[in-house]
Order: sequence, then structure tokens, then C-alpha cells
Amino acid sequence: MLKLKGSITISGDKSISHRALIFASLSTGKVKISNLLESDDVMRTLKILKELGIKIIKKKAQWIVYGNGTGGYIQPAQVLDCGNSGTTSRLMMGAVSSNPISCTFIGDNSLSKRSMSRLSIFLEKMGAEIKLTKKDFLPLHIKGDINLIPMEHVMQKASAQVKSAIMLSALNLRGKTRIIERRNTRDHTERLMRYLRINFEKKILSNNSTSIELNGPYEIKPRDIIVASDPSSAAFFIVGALIIPGSKITLKNIALNKSRIAFIDVLKMMGGKISVKKTKTVSGENVGDIKVTYSLLKSLKIKASLSPYLIDEYPILSIAASQAKGVTVMRGLSELRHKESDRIKSIITNLSRIGFKVVSKKDDIHIKGSNKLQIINPKKIKTYGDHRIAMSFIILSLRFKNKLIIDDESCISISYPDFKKHLKKLSTN
Ligand code: S3P
Repeated sequence: MLKLKGSITISGDKSISHRALIFASLSTGKVKISNLLESDDVMRTLKILKELGIKIIKKKAQWIVYGNGTGGYIQPAQVLDCGNSGTTSRLMMGAVSSNPISCTFIGDNSLSKRSMSRLSIFLEKMGAEIKLTKKDFLPLHIKGDINLIPMEHVMQKASAQVKSAIMLSALNLRGKTRIIERRNTRDHTERLMRYLRINFEKKILSNNSTSIELNGPYEIKPRDIIVASDPSSAAFFIVGALIIPGSKITLKNIALNKSRIAFIDVLKMMGGKISVKKTKTVSGENVGDIKVTYSLLKSLKIKASLSPYLIDEYPILSIAASQAKGVTVMRGLSELRHKESDRIKSIITNLSRIGFKVVSKKDDIHIKGSNKLQIINPKKIKTYGDHRIAMSFIILSLRFKNKLIIDDESCISISYPDFKKHLKKLSTN
């Protein structure tokens, strides 16, 4: 049987890549970015920044961004097309909102079904004029203003995108913006801001909420950025090595941001043999190497409070659960309905098609695992155009001698164009 062996360096992190480009565009000069993820989503952000007057060129392996300073975007001549990328749409809406320009944002079919009012309510309160389609969706028109009112925002939903968008808007506003998060979310924006020496205050309040306070407008001095490798992309090979007998791999240079690697703790609690070793810090993020050996997994009850930290890993965790002994329960997954596909439906439909016992109760998923299940006839997997569903089931297919037929693999390029190349590099007989 095929197994995963050897060592690779995973591609750049998607969340950090979007932020590296945007912060570079807001700097007052030339920024070189290394290890930028060149995926469809990130290239959408790059193209939109060009439409907003930012010069960006590629030289050898580096991207060079000529920042125009905060408030330096010019009126775009065209609509801003975010493709499939939720992060592009939310972060760029925030970034343009405090510039005196009018922009129309559009997206593909999937993105046009995802909520934008979760962000626009905050920007509208500050005074931005926003017209949404059917009160919630793209296409969306926004008229930005340098005189938006800086204020306090209390976030009910846990979303790193919404938090970051408000922070990006605040960078160009005169006065104090305060964001209160009831539940912590991933903190790449804060880390990159510290690295870029942008002053702000982040503290835990007595009720355990987090407060982030910015006092703009800011001048961001150019500083080169190195993008750490993506732990969410690494997660596919980590689970692959855990479930395929005889596997042993090392993944290098991975961002070890605590708000991103909770899935490693979950997999360890399931019995996974994984070791993590920090090697250095790059551009504000800790990075290190991850070693994984095939393991017999057992089921786990995963608490709802972990969901903001596992948000992109539930599809691949459900693959691990399918190979674990017992019933794994994942709780509090309501946000999964608002991703590139309704991921609760995508997980349930595909695992049950293969023959696993899976149920979804309200916002929870229950998966009865079995590493004994065999497939006689090929089974078709529906990705719903969702990159993480496609890669998760390609990994499960390795367990079944490639008997799962993935209906559409093209969506993988949204977050990890080199996935198949890297998988091939790790695969041996
Ligand atoms: C992201 C935040 C998460 C995540 C997405 C990237 C980011 O979305 O699912 O892939 O870069 O800030 P939410 O903010 O909606 O949780």
C-alpha cells in the first residue's frame, strides 16, 4: 500500500499572504515579500490592490509592493473581483472604507452567497455608504470616506476577517477605534502590525473579552515580510500520515501560531503521534517543523469553544475521525455553513456516500469511525467547488487505494496550487 514518507516545505500561509500584500500597500515605500502563497485567492487581493493604484511586480521568487501609505488608494476604473475569496472581500472592504473612493466588489457564485452584512453593519455605523445585494450579498457598492467616525465596536460573532477589516479601516482614521471580541480569533493582523511597529493596544478584559485599540492615522514604515508556511495546508498531510499505515513525514517552516494549530492538539488527544519543534520567528510569527508518524486514532468530543481555532480544519479532522475508533463529536459548527460550501452538508454527504455512519444534529457532527471499512466499487465525491473538501477527500482516498473519484479538483488552486505536487513528493510504495 502507498504511504507518506519524507520531508517537504509547505507553501506560504493564505491568511498571512493576504495581510502581507495589504499592509505592504499601506506602507510608505517598497516592501519585498518572500514565500507569498500564489494561489487564486491571494492573487485576487493582489489584482485588486493593482486596480487601487498600487504597483506590484515579481522579481525572481519575491513580490515587490510599492506602498502608497494609508489613505493612498486611488479610484479604481473597474469593479473589484474577489473570485472565491472571502478574505479578499472582507479585508479589502475594510481597507478601502477609509479612502475617499467608490468601489464595487463582486465575486463568484459561492462568494455571492456568503454574508457581507456581518462586516458592513460596522462600517455603516462609522458612516460608510454601502449598498448590498438583497441586504447581505455581493455585488456590493461602497463609498469610502476619510472622515468615518472612529468608535467602539462589539463583535458578537467570532470572525478574524471582520476584526481585521475594522482594524484596516481604522489605520487611516483620525482618533480611537476600539474592537471588543467576546471570543478570541486568529491574530495574524495583530502579529504583523507589531512586526511593522504599528502601535496599538490589545488586552484581556475582566469578563474575558479581548479589547484592541488603535489610534490613527498611522504612517507605516516599509519593512520586508517573509510569509510562514500554512498550517491549514499542512493539516492535510498530517492527517494523511496519521491514517496511512507505515507513514512518517516531516513538514518544515510551518507557522505555529496558537490560533491556527489547535488541530494538532486535537489530533494528539485522538492518539496521533505528532511532534512540533519551534525553529525561529519570521515577520512576527513563530515557525517550526512538524513530525508525524502513523497512529491508531481514537474518537474525541471536540468542544464548541474551540471552533474559531479549528474553523478551516474541520473537513480534514472529519477524515481523521472517520478512521478513529468510536464516535467523534464536533460541536458548535454553525459558522461552517458560511464557508466556501456548506461544510456540514459537504462532510456529511460525502462520508455517508462512502459508507460511514455520520449524522448532523443542529450544529454538531457525529462521525462513527472505522479503519476497517473497504470500498469495492469507486465512489464519487462531490466537492461543491470547495478546496478544503477536495483535498480532505483526496487524502481519504489514499486509504482506499484511490477508489474515491473527486468530481472537481480544480478548486484546489484556491488555497494550495502545489498540493498534488507535494503529495506526489511524499508518496512512496
Ligand atoms: C480567515 C479567517 C477565517 C478563515 C478564513 C481565513 C482570515 O474566517 O475561515 O479561511 O484570514 O482572517 P472567519 O473570519 O470568517 O472566521
